[in-house]
Amino acid sequence: MKKRCVVVGVGNRAHCWISGIVNYHPDTNELVGLCDLMPERCEDINEVYKTNAAVYTDYDRMLNELKPDLVVITSPESCHAEHIIKAFAAGCEVACEKPLCVTLDDAHKVLAAEKDYGRKVKMCFNYRHIPLMSKIKEVLLSGEIGSPVSMDLTWYLDYRGHGASYFRRWHRMLKESGGLLVTKACHHFDLANWWMGDVPKWVFAQGRQNFFGPGKNKFSGKRCSSCSHAEECEWYTDVCVKDRTEELSRELGYRVKGVRGYVRDCCPFGEDVDIYDTMGVSVEYRNGGMLNYSLNASVPFEGWNLAINCTNGRLESKITDNKPQPGWQEFFRIVGPDGKVHDGGSGYHISHWPKDYVIHVMPHDKTAYELKLPNIAEGHGGGDMKLYDLVYGRGEPETDPLGILASAIDGARSTAIGAGANVSIKEKRPIDLDI
Ligand SMILES: NC(=O)c1ccc[n+]([C@@H]2O[C@H](COP(=O)([O-])OP(=O)(O)OC[C@H]3O[C@@H](n4cnc5c(N)ncnc54)[C@H](O)[C@@H]3O)[C@@H](O)[C@H]2O)c1
Repeated sequence: MKKRCVVVGVGNRAHCWISGIVNYHPDTNELVGLCDLMPERCEDINEVYKTNAAVYTDYDRMLNELKPDLVVITSPESCHAEHIIKAFAAGCEVACEKPLCVTLDDAHKVLAAEKDYGRKVKMCFNYRHIPLMSKIKEVLLSGEIGSPVSMDLTWYLDYRGHGASYFRRWHRMLKESGGLLVTKACHHFDLANWWMGDVPKWVFAQGRQNFFGPGKNKFSGKRCSSCSHAEECEWYTDVCVKDRTEELSRELGYRVKGVRGYVRDCCPFGEDVDIYDTMGVSVEYRNGGMLNYSLNASVPFEGWNLAINCTNGRLESKITDNKPQPGWQEFFRIVGPDGKVHDGGSGYHISHWPKDYVIHVMPHDKTAYELKLPNIAEGHGGGDMKLYDLVYGRGEPETDPLGILASAIDGARSTAIGAGANVSIKEKRPIDLDI
């Protein structure tokens, strides 16, 4: 018998999870239902993936009528808690995209539901499964450099593409996404908690709009597609050109690889942007460990720097990718720091991803050395494939020596730091994380 799977929230990310069933695990799984407020998006899936899933706009009805084995949750984060709890009540297995939720209240509700229904959320933190990230955990667990005492983690988003995109889509509002400290940094806080092997206790944070948000550009409006400043604004994007034909749209991946009707041309300088582009966060762990974290969305490249100081040495790693998301050059008129406009496509050179990632291990009492890990260009460094395997394929392994499998409590602790940081920024005080 195949596992009867449904997906709720059929936007960008859902395509990955649906491909996980259709292209990688079709022998053991079947896509039986799709639910989205926009049913056309579900119909597109059936057409593109040649599936025959029942289409719903009412989640309760889908659960009730289809009685699925597994619910995959790829709705926006503000819906996750409700979707998880209802799926538990319907007796389903649940795989939930990051973040677990946006608020601490919701995190507590999900934890209570896990107890009430005797079930566990498969918390899908794909970054843990990237070979580089799990190798770092392995080095820490080996004891070679002792136990972590402090960590510096800085994350950079490319201002031309990925970084700006958060300010053009629904993520631009704190109430929808929790801002970058929840929607994006939840990955990073989860990694930090996992590597530290500890529970976050206090958070203190600062956040600013230095680059995006109201007043940060000469022009501002609602959406590029209807903006009177389109001709003169260097941030104009043609993502919603009105006379683009259906055929051309398909070609550019609007409907097939992308999502029909997706609003991603909001003004990054619009009045409703209330998320930060520059954030600094300080976390104290229960056993005294410290995390210094920063996230900046206005950097000319994408990447991160990590240093973990331990009782018997230090570990460092770094990634620098000068590559906006493939395909974005089609959508954006990219402006360089010199003010020069690159029209996308062939007009804009994109460098290649590095072949390997490196971990520098520096024990106090031995010679330092490097570990090289392959950079898998596909599916978030290969993390996605491993998750599909866990959720659709071989299932959870009998032993989990790295503690790589995440559950709601891990999701709750990563959301706690981000949500707590947002409160800290607003109220200018450290926040006790009760989780
Ligand atoms: N792990 C990763 O690397 C990764 C990458 C991208 C997105 N995500 C996560 O996946 C989730 C979805 O993100 P996305 O980029 O696909 O967003 P999206 O906006 O493209 O898709 C969300 C979909 O949910 C639908 N929706 C909204 N409210 C709903 C409701 N109440 N019931 C049913 N459907 C509803 C929307 O119509 C939309 O089609 C988010 O939680 C996001 O953080 C994770």
